[in-house]
Parts: sequence; structure tokens; C-alpha cells
Amino acid sequence: MKLFPIILAAGQGTRMRSALPKVLHPIAGKPMLQHVIDACEQLTVTKIAVVYGHGGEQVKQQVVGKQLLWALQAEQKGTGHAVQQAIDLAEDSDLVLIAYGDVPLIRAETLNKLCLGLGQATLCVLTTKVPHPKGYGRIVRDAQGKVKAIVEEKDTNDEQRLINEINTGFMAARASDWKRWLKQLTPQNAQGEYYLTDCVGLAVAEGWVVSSVLCEDSQEVEGVNNRIQLAQLERVAQKRQVEQLMLNGVTIVDPARLDIRGKVSAQIDTYIDVNVVLQGEVVLGKNVVIEPNCIIKDSTIGDFCHIKANSLIESAVIARDCDIGPFARVRPGTVLEPEAKIGNFVETKKAYIGSGSKVSHLSYIGDATVGANVNIGAGTITCNYDGVNKHQTIIGDDAFIGSCTQLVAPVKVGEGATIGAGSTITKDTPPHQLTLTRAPQKTIENWQRPVKEPK
Ligand code: UD1
Ligand code: CA
Repeated sequence: MKLFPIILAAGQGTRMRSALPKVLHPIAGKPMLQHVIDACEQLTVTKIAVVYGHGGEQVKQQVVGKQLLWALQAEQKGTGHAVQQAIDLAEDSDLVLIAYGDVPLIRAETLNKLCLGLGQATLCVLTTKVPHPKGYGRIVRDAQGKVKAIVEEKDTNDEQRLINEINTGFMAARASDWKRWLKQLTPQNAQGEYYLTDCVGLAVAEGWVVSSVLCEDSQEVEGVNNRIQLAQLERVAQKRQVEQLMLNGVTIVDPARLDIRGKVSAQIDTYIDVNVVLQGEVVLGKNVVIEPNCIIKDSTIGDFCHIKANSLIESAVIARDCDIGPFARVRPGTVLEPEAKIGNFVETKKAYIGSGSKVSHLSYIGDATVGANVNIGAGTITCNYDGVNKHQTIIGDDAFIGSCTQLVAPVKVGEGATIGAGSTITKDTPPHQLTLTRAPQKTIENWQRPVKEPK
């Protein structure tokens, strides 16, 4: 029996009050629907169907999956109607798992338990217990405790309304059974919709056993209907990720003040201070120190690096023992070799900085290759852009660039060269020589400061 997940994601999500389809709103930097797809992909599956409708092409474009099949539900007539649009993609023998695209924290292991829970039964539903069951479908059981039906909130009687075991929406059954039940659904209910949940009553009427699996952690199966719930689940998702890092040996000063929007790996004894955002794919070595208010995106940071407060690092590769910041802006294409230093108010872009080299203060280094053990003085600018094209600056090993130098690219500074402070370098400079451009200093004799006329 092959497992075939069908993810329902066609609903409009009116209560989000958004132009963005609900299932594309991100949790931990990733669309909610993507979380559900990823959980399904962790199971042994050969294909996954997504029922889409509201948001159409946009939904299709913004999620990825290895074997995604798409089923359009042009009009949203209920969860049963949604499954009807996709069920013919299943072989009769498939085990069809129904999942919701707006329940982002679902874990693969829970989906697995649900499938195993089918056992000898024909239908298995994932339930949970909540203190306030309002709005959910209630799990109605018979005297022996066997599942008898799921009754939607709007169709409940006074007694059923008190039941606090609810339907999470996740269910599993064989495709042939789904196909038979789906044909029998009618919209004769309070909302005039085709309810998937009616399949439970149909299975029981046929004399089959409906089993259930209880999800202990109700947050895991919580759905998002508005932005308050989105923010609540974001916190839960953050807590999960941050706790994993801590268990792996990373010190997080305040778990509530680190945000991970992507995939982060870190080695032991790395230390992350407050208000740090890690985005995309971030790889941190061991004993890295990240001071407050740093944003690091799609970058690799080597062992023993020190990222000082208020620095931004994007698409960069930083080797071991580098020092960055405070207030540094390390832009895409920056590569730092071991023990390099980027100091305060320095911006780098497409810059290779050799080992032991220092750009300590107030500089712009773009489209540049800097050798090893170079010292770049405060206020140095690579003038890389002529208004049309970008040009390269190449600085040899052991060069010393005096403060406030402008390097007008394309230009090369020779190995071991020294550039006098305040120079505008427009031609290649020879190695091991002092080069400078500087107007001779003069003093105007007997010059007097202007003075204000007395009134
Ligand atoms: C549904 C269940 C309810 C359960 C609750 C859990 C039914 C009839 N009710 O109610 O028992 O407690 O979820 O959250 O199944 N969708 C479509 N097409 C549609 C309608 C919905 O794709 O025509 C999708 C939505 O995008 C969403 C999911 O199905 O991902 C659930 O839809 P929603 O309208 O939120 O169902 P509820 O009324 O909350
Ligand atoms: Ca819902």
C-alpha cells in the first residue's frame, strides 16, 4: 500500500484580511503550505497532491516539492468537495492521508502515527483535546468509546457542544473507501458544504470501525485563521528551533529574542546574544560570538568568529577567527579568509579579503580582491562604478593603504606597496614603493579669519 498525502489549500482565508493567499503566509520564514509539504515529504511517499484554488498560480509558484501534483478546486464548496478534486489522482490501493495547508506545525512522526493508527480500521482520524473547542468539529463516541461521527460546531446539539475532543482535520483511509464515501456526500448541513467529516458517519453506517489517534500537543495541529494565530504559531515554531540549537550546545541568551527564518546549523559553544535574526541558510561554526542586533542571512561563519553588535551579513563566507563590526555591512559575495577584520561602518560587496587583512573603519570595499596581511586605513573607498560599469580593484599582499584613499578602479596596488593618506589612485602602483597623490601643503602668510561686522 502506497502512502499518498492530499493537502487541502484552496480555502480563501478571509479572516487573514490579506491579498496574499493564506497558505503562503510565512511561519519561520517559510510558507505555511511548504511546512506541510515538507512534513509529508519526510514520510515514504512517491507523490503528494495539493488542492489549490484561492490564490491560484501564486500558490503553485511559491512552494516546491519533489513530486507535487496539483488539483484545482475552482469553487470552495467544503473540505469533502476539495478532496473530491484530487482523489482520482490516487490508485484504489493507495493509503490517502488528508492534511491541511494551514496547519504548519504538524510533524512527520504524528502523520506516521496517524497512518499506523489505521490498523484494522477503515478510517483513522487525528484528534486532540482543547479547553475551548468552539469552532471545531467534535468527536462523538458511542457507549464503548468508539468514534461514531464528527459533528461540526454549527450542527452540534447542546450535549455535543461540551465535547472537548476535536477533529484536527488530518485523516487516513484507503483511496477506494474515500472514493465510495465522497460520492455519497451531500451539502445538507448548517453551512451548505460538502463536509469531509461526514465520511466518518458513512463508514460507521457501513459497519466499519473508525479508529483515532490523539495528538497530545494541541499546538502542533492548530490551524491559522487570522494574523493573531499566525503570530502565536510563529512563537511556537521559533521555540522549537531555538530549543534544538540549545540542545546542540549553543548558548542563546534569550530564546524569545532570537528569530530563525530558515535553516541554521551551529557547533558547540557558539553564543548568540539578544535580537538576532538568522535568515535563509546559516552555518555557524563553534565558539562563534554574535553580539546583539545582528542580522545574518545565507552565510557561513567559521569557528571563533566574533560578530559585534548591529552588523548585517548577507551571502558571505567568513573563515575562522574573523572579527566583524560593530555596525558592519557585509554584502553578498564577500569572502573573508582567516583572521581578517572588518570594523565599524565598513561596507563590503563582492570583496575577497585575504587572511589577516584589516579594514577597520569607515570604508567601502566593493568588487575587490585584497591579499593577505593588508591594512586598509580609515575612510578608504574603492571607486568601483563609473556610472555604467563596475570595475575591479586588486590589492597585493602586505600592502598598506593610507587613510582616506580613493582607489579608482580598475586599478592594482602592488604587493607590499604603501599608499600615502588622502591619495586618489587612478593608475596601478608598483610593489614595495610609496605612492601618493597629494597637493603640496602651503600656508598663507598673514591670512586673517573674516570677522563679523559690529551692528
Ligand atoms: C475543518 C473541519 C473541522 C475541524 C477543523 C480543524 C470539516 C467540514 N470541518 O473545519 O471538523 O475541526 O477543520 O481545523 O472538514 N479547504 C479547501 N476547500 C474548501 C474548504 C476548505 O481546500 O472548499 C481547505 C482550507 O484551505 C483549509 C482546510 O481545508 O486548509 C480546512 O478548511 P476550513 O474552512 O478552515 O475548515 P473548518 O471550518 O475550520
Ligand atoms: Ca480552519
